[in-house]
Amino acid sequence: MCGIVGYVGEKACERILVNALKNLEYRGYDSAGIAVFEGDKIKTVKAKGSIDSGLSLKLDREPSLKAVAGIGHTRWATHGEPSDINAHPIGNARISIVHNGIIENYRKIKAFLIDKGYSFESQTDTEAVAKLLDYNYNGNPTETIAQTVAQLEGAYSLGIIFREHKNKLFAVRKESPLIVGIGRGEMYIASDMTAILEYTKEYYLPDAGEIAEVTRDGVTFFDIHGNVIEKEINIAEWDVTAAQKGGYEHFMLKEIHEQPAALKNTLTPRISDGIPSFEECGLTDEMLRNYKNIYIVGCGSAMHAGMVGKYVIEDIARIPVTVDIASEFKYRKPLLTKDDLLIIISQSGETADTLSALKLGKEIGADTLAAVNVTGSSIDREAKMSMKTLAGPEISVCSTKAYMVQCAFMYMFALRLAYARGRLDEAKCKEYTSKLLEIPELIQECIDRKEQYQRVASKIMNASSLLYIGRGLDYALSMEGSLKLKEISYIHSESYAGGELKHGTISLIDEEMPVIAVATQTYLYSKTSSNVEQVKSRGAKTIVICRDGADVNSNIADYVVRLPETDDLLMPLVAAVPLQMLAYYTALDRQCSIDKPRNLAKSVTVE
Ligand code: G6P
Repeated sequence: MCGIVGYVGEKACERILVNALKNLEYRGYDSAGIAVFEGDKIKTVKAKGSIDSGLSLKLDREPSLKAVAGIGHTRWATHGEPSDINAHPIGNARISIVHNGIIENYRKIKAFLIDKGYSFESQTDTEAVAKLLDYNYNGNPTETIAQTVAQLEGAYSLGIIFREHKNKLFAVRKESPLIVGIGRGEMYIASDMTAILEYTKEYYLPDAGEIAEVTRDGVTFFDIHGNVIEKEINIAEWDVTAAQKGGYEHFMLKEIHEQPAALKNTLTPRISDGIPSFEECGLTDEMLRNYKNIYIVGCGSAMHAGMVGKYVIEDIARIPVTVDIASEFKYRKPLLTKDDLLIIISQSGETADTLSALKLGKEIGADTLAAVNVTGSSIDREAKMSMKTLAGPEISVCSTKAYMVQCAFMYMFALRLAYARGRLDEAKCKEYTSKLLEIPELIQECIDRKEQYQRVASKIMNASSLLYIGRGLDYALSMEGSLKLKEISYIHSESYAGGELKHGTISLIDEEMPVIAVATQTYLYSKTSSNVEQVKSRGAKTIVICRDGADVNSNIADYVVRLPETDDLLMPLVAAVPLQMLAYYTALDRQCSIDKPRNLAKSVTVE
């Protein structure tokens, strides 16, 4: 949600800033801009729209900029509509800033500054920060920043330049992500590593409140009192090609195809003596034996991975699991206690709602275990224990491979928990684990069967609404299937427990409402088939997603999507693929913006 970049070096920075911003467009894409040191002035160019349709066109019309240092921003609007004026950078002749996050007390700051004679032109909270910096400015940037951030409430990361401090960048963060990248004779700031992976793999991670002063020769970090802080260099594990499309039409399609590898990377190093192990993050069998309840929180796809986790954990480990939408968790006074384990699931590790749920869990005194895909992210750092899902960078806003490895994490956790608590003996646990390790191949098989998804996509592409139904694990999975379709094809859909349909929702069924039944659970197959029959007899077009060996009555299924088979327990991992690909091809047929769906951002760092 909003991407920040900055460059200082010896090269003309315009192209580098724009390129880095494009790499961050998944964080927001309703407007973009840059501010650079041009002569003895700060020159700002910004525009509504995506980088290609706005900023780049505007820059093409400008005489080319010679500047070697500047900051840039791609926006996901929170305060004020997308417009040239609300686009960042924001500031005045002597200070310019880019901002990610929300300043909660901006109205108060604004009123104070208006009283001091300042006027405001944008509707953003960011302008209050820019003008407060200007008001506090005493010639010393780090002192000014320290004084200013002490007056801010909320979450933010800021990139700042001062006209009087030519070719220097300043940055500070609290809760929103920020890194400082290290090049040779050049330095960067960015919201995350994917922005600058093609330039460097080395970076610093500023902690909350630390102020970075960046020149082309390096960076100095100061604490709020002006003391210099030494920090360790981190090396990104991701390869630059991982953040490029690599010949695929969309990142989403590429990321679907990366799922077998992502799963292998996540699973293999964690299997010890044939059983998943959580030793790397300090989670012991004794701890697992002692937890009274398990809570899982996340947002969007991450929460859906938690739903799969709930079904699997309760089935094989027989311990109560509560799954919460992170934004609800905090405000519903959860019953979590210090005897429970709170599992936090997040691809980015920066989702504000999820982060605040984690903080609440820590306040309560519960143990916290994070599954995050970004090393060094806020959730990774805040949680007591953290295990990385190793999907590599996920660029498409619509999550696929990250969801897949989050589910894999849940299976590993459930197996170890069941084993530690004596609910699964060693032989059975090893049997499940070896089946889990076979899943990447089955997923590849699913991906290779793309014609079935293309065919169904062409049949549902004109629907205005559709239903997903399933029972048990199929229901947990169909929530994700429904979300995928909504997110990228803009077709309304809902996921319903098959048995619940008759208690109200079946009234919606007519010829215009396709129903997708996920029916991979053998012990529930006949029940789900009856639900399909019920909707078919009311006119619905029916699509049944089932195992290769399933006996499907052709009178009730208009289209059948078949999947390679494994144990019932593990089928959601396989069946996730057709749901993803169905959403993908439907969105493709409808000519939607697949990687950057309207109104969405990949990493939502505001509550
Ligand atoms: C946003 C994205 C979703 C994602 C959710 C949680 O809403 O659009 O695709 O599932 O955030 O993100 P996280 O990074 O915490 O997994």
